[in-house]
Order: sequence, then structure tokens, then C-alpha cells
Amino acid sequence: MAATRTFSIIKPDATKRNLTGKVTQMLEDAGLRVVASKRIQMTRAQAEGFYAVHSERPFFGELVDFMISGPVVVQVLEGENAMQRNRDIMGATNPADAAPGTIRKEVAESIEANSVHGSDSDENAAIEIAYFFNEDEIVG
Ligand code: CMP
Repeated sequence: MAATRTFSIIKPDATKRNLTGKVTQMLEDAGLRVVASKRIQMTRAQAEGFYAVHSERPFFGELVDFMISGPVVVQVLEGENAMQRNRDIMGATNPADAAPGTIRKEVAESIEANSVHGSDSDENAAIEIAYFFNEDEIVG
């Protein structure tokens, strides 16, 4: 099976606790290759645009506030079935429901401060990668 790409964010709760390396190691150990990575401070407009699909949800304002509360690391991950592989190693959205050995179980603090974001489909992965990266920033 050919390698595919997905999009990941290491969220402010993890960057603040100096867990960028630990989270990245868990991604790599799961068979994913980091083919693009940058540490950024998202603007409010960027975060609102990225999470626009959740704009009607009651937690939208808090989600945006949290995502701009500190730096994030946006990454493109490559591997066999990368989107699903990443979702498997991330674990359930709420760390209370996440399986042992997953990033959210081992590292995350709450459903909001849940350490990582990962695309939920190949279609959204392509959209989310293009939201943060130019093609020439991705080196496989
Ligand atoms: P993420 O994968 O980044 O996609 C949307 C995010 O919204 C999700 O991770 C959670 O961090 C956050 N989220 C989902 N449900 C809730 C909730 N009930 N309260 C606060 N944040 C939530």
C-alpha cells in the first residue's frame, strides 16, 4: 500500500509542558514520518478558520482561545494509511476515554487540552495540510 499523508497539530498544552519531542516520538514509533513541521503562534483568524466546521458548537470560543493560548507545532505526517494510523495513536478525543498507550491517554489533560489534533479523513487532511503548508515545505 502506498504512503499517504495526514495533518497533525501538537497543541498548546503539550508545547507548554515541553512535550513536543515526546509526542513526536510517539508518532514516529507508530510508523509515521514527519515530512513537514513548524512551530507557530496561530492568530485568532487562523484558528477560527481552521475550526470553522465547529463554529456553531458551544465550545467553539473556548477552543479558539485555547488554540491561540501558546505555540503549536503543525506537522505533515506520512506513512501507510497515515490518517487512520495517526488517529489510532492519538486515541479518543476525551483522554478519559482514550486507550492505554495512546498520546491522549499518556499526555493529555482534558477534552479541550487534549495535546494533539489529527485529520479525520483523507479529504480533510489535504485541506488542512494546504491551510498551513506550501508544497515546497513538505519533504518526504
Ligand atoms: P480536535 O481533534 O482538535 O477537533 C476539535 C476539538 O474540539 C477537539 O479536538 C477537542 O479538543 C475540542 N472539543 C471537542 N469537544 C469538546 C467539548 N465538549 N468541550 C471542549 N472542547 C471540545
